[in-house]
Amino acid sequence: MWGSATSSHQVEGSSNNNWVAWEKENAERLASGAKKKYRSWQQEKFPEMFEKENYISGMACDHYHLFEKDFDLAKEGGHNVHRFSIEWSRIEPEEGKFNEEEIEHYRKVIVALRQRGMEPFVTLWHWTEPIWFNEQGGWNNEKSADYFARFVEKIVGEYKDLVKFWVVVNEPNVSMGFGYFLGTQPPAKKGIVNFLNGYFNLFLAFKKSALLIKKIDANAEVGVANSITHYEAKIFPGLNFLIVSIIEFFSRYFLRKAIPYCTFIGCNYYSRYVVSFYKKEITQEKKTDLGWEIYPEGIHHILKSLKKYSLPIYITENGLADAGDTRRAEYISGHLQYIHKAISEGVDVRGYMHWSLLDNYEFPDTRGFWPRFGLIEIDFKTLERKPRKSFYEYAKICKSNELEIE
Ligand code: BGC
Repeated sequence: MWGSATSSHQVEGSSNNNWVAWEKENAERLASGAKKKYRSWQQEKFPEMFEKENYISGMACDHYHLFEKDFDLAKEGGHNVHRFSIEWSRIEPEEGKFNEEEIEHYRKVIVALRQRGMEPFVTLWHWTEPIWFNEQGGWNNEKSADYFARFVEKIVGEYKDLVKFWVVVNEPNVSMGFGYFLGTQPPAKKGIVNFLNGYFNLFLAFKKSALLIKKIDANAEVGVANSITHYEAKIFPGLNFLIVSIIEFFSRYFLRKAIPYCTFIGCNYYSRYVVSFYKKEITQEKKTDLGWEIYPEGIHHILKSLKKYSLPIYITENGLADAGDTRRAEYISGHLQYIHKAISEGVDVRGYMHWSLLDNYEFPDTRGFWPRFGLIEIDFKTLERKPRKSFYEYAKICKSNELEIE
């Protein structure tokens, strides 16, 4: 499968969830905080980070209204799968009351994909909370897993004949880390207690939902999209292996516990992280606009490490912030070569979904609009869509199902 991914709040616009008010209240602080948060080369290149508007999702790409246009483009790019998320706050704006119009809206979204020959890969929770859920403590509420499972039951019941692939939650570590431990994104909770409590409730929500989905549709495919970084340690030669094992033990905890309930593994890979006393400066050609190292080999290590679970793997995200589009095509082919290497060594990888189809409101750590992840460029003022050069390069791979290997 070849395609790309988005998430509701990042592209749809006019949301009404727990991020909206928080963004407005914190935009000024975030804009002035950019001076400390980002490096000087980033500040020079992206002065938008000092503007308040950068942090307010607002209309985003207005994908809510323009989804057909966007799917026409994805089809033109040869995509045969598309990952997106259903916005819980639209479906259940008030506790226990489902909005039938919004259910119809997402039915149209799914049908629009099918009509264009794209498999819908549906995420059920990509980090936003309905306001009522947030007001009751979010994932710190002991009933949170039941609340979420009720929503999942409704959605899966509605779309079971149209959807096969369900990504129950997206990146539990990242959402809990920024949202419930560091407090740098909504719901902006802090500390280890909130984190652990939220993490385990989210796991419970996943487990209940996965069991429910299989009960409603025995043929459904169920998974989690895990953020998997490739870790290396360069501290003491004798200890490096142990250090990486400890980091991986904790960072893959959710994944390990989730495996028995999954029929596939969703892998989000972006970069490697080197644990060291000295921060080695990454050269300009090897880093993205966010300063992340471009390290395609990492995806090979990760895929090999996932082989032991004997489950099909889908790359549910892989991409980079690259406003100039000077490295995106090479980034894609570089990673695909290493995915291919893993496949030829027996890893069962079945699909690749590039992050992202569109430039969008960059979520983690509330970075806002300046990092440009899209195969398609968005002018956020006019909402004009312009496929980048890399869109067409990737289209060649998608359409031919082939990649030249050096
Ligand atoms: C998230 C996306 C995000 C992307 C790039 C992942 O952490 O799932 O929502 O935009 O990475 O940072």
